[in-house]
Amino acid sequence: MSKWTPPDQQRFVGFMREASPYLRAHRDQTFVVYLGGEAIDAASFPQIVQDLALLCGIGVKLVLVHGARPQVEARLRSAGIPTRLVRDLRVTDSASLLEVRQAVTNVRYALESQFAHMTGPPQAEAEDLRIVGGNFITAQPVGVIDGVDLEFTGETRKLDVASLRGQLKHADIVLISPLAHSPTGELFSLNALDLATETAMALGASKLVLYTPQAEVQDAQGVVRRQLTPHELREPAALNGPPATILASALKASEGGVERVHLVASAADGALLLELFTRDGVGTLISSVPFDQLRPATIGDVGGILGLIEPLEAEGVLVKRSREKLEREIDRFQVMVRDGATVACGAVYPYRADGMAELACIAVDPDYRRSGYGAVLLDALERSAELAGLREVFVLTTQTTHWFQERGYVRSGIEDLPMARQALYNYQRNSVVLVKVLRPA
Ligand SMILES: CC(C)(COP(=O)(O)OP(=O)(O)OC[C@H]1O[C@@H](n2cnc3c(N)ncnc32)[C@H](O)[C@@H]1OP(=O)(O)O)[C@@H](O)C(=O)NCCC(=O)NCCS
Repeated sequence: MSKWTPPDQQRFVGFMREASPYLRAHRDQTFVVYLGGEAIDAASFPQIVQDLALLCGIGVKLVLVHGARPQVEARLRSAGIPTRLVRDLRVTDSASLLEVRQAVTNVRYALESQFAHMTGPPQAEAEDLRIVGGNFITAQPVGVIDGVDLEFTGETRKLDVASLRGQLKHADIVLISPLAHSPTGELFSLNALDLATETAMALGASKLVLYTPQAEVQDAQGVVRRQLTPHELREPAALNGPPATILASALKASEGGVERVHLVASAADGALLLELFTRDGVGTLISSVPFDQLRPATIGDVGGILGLIEPLEAEGVLVKRSREKLEREIDRFQVMVRDGATVACGAVYPYRADGMAELACIAVDPDYRRSGYGAVLLDALERSAELAGLREVFVLTTQTTHWFQERGYVRSGIEDLPMARQALYNYQRNSVVLVKVLRPA
């Protein structure tokens, strides 16, 4: 075994501290995970299985929905059966269905066998891991599309949520394959991505994890977006990266009540762990908490912002701002509004000559805290600083140091501030200076 050096140890300690709130938060939660057929053939497949087993180990209830598209296509090719697609849906005739059955069965066995024979930790848990299946899905034919009968290509007619939930009480993993019978006894081939999405919605899962060959999303400006709102997904043409079908499923699940959808790269070792156990993640999070109302502030928002910040000014958490100052600077602010009430605000003050911006006056209504509003607001403020061409952002805070540190801010000195800001530093208030690099120089 290799010997650990002190920096390794420090990283481990740092990681455990960062991960510990998530370990607690994820316990007893239901996650639906979609694993496409290409992930099963990927070199990272054993690590993906290992990471999923680790989730079970900390008490996550997993519903794993697997696909088998490349495996089906390979079998159809070698059987000399041509693939016919209508709007990206395969026409499954009876000869194709035999190949689909075989391919899906093989993938299912490959998964079960990988869970049973894990090579690395948590190998010890593999023996205790309980994987179950069942007839939870009832199918119906997709029918005729554009004049073509899709025959044994089906879609979900009914999902037996009560049985699924019942199984999750006793098993670690419910494994769902994309094949299901109709009430008339015919077998249908289903789209695994749709099945995973519908299962997450029906179960009210706290997360839907979509493994995808490409998990990083870039917006039209080329900025990597770690967090997106469903609202932004409604214009998929403005986003680059993951396949359109993955983005469409993420949107459907978010709008269907799944609070968090994570896009995770299937080829990257440990991507799921980094996404779920670190603040910034490495994939893309689509959060359905209704952030649609995040927008630049206008003069009409002054009253709402004052209502939000005045109690915090009285407590000394925020620096006092007069109504006049706020009115003058209103175009620096962004607000989040729900049902007509201002529930969060924050401002960006650029120091262009220094390539920096101050993020200030960040506040979330106490009734809306701990739901991710602060994180989304901070992300939006950082993004607007980045779009303005600034490389670094800083905050001055007296009571929220850790919250910023957990989001990538590093404790710094007054001398790290732009000169113009140093001159305004209030030594009596003695705020902590925190800096985050948005883009390395
Ligand atoms: C800081 C603040 C903006 C966070 O808003 P929020 O919407 O609750 O933030 P999120 O939901 O994204 O994050 C909540 C997490 O941060 C933690 N947190 C909140 N305030 C914190 C603080 N002062 N120090 C450390 N962690 C804090 C919560 O415990 C929660 O942790 P959890 O995810 O493990 O449950 C909000 O608490 C607030 O308005 N505070 C008063 C104003 C302020 O201090 N502003 C910053 C100075 S500019």
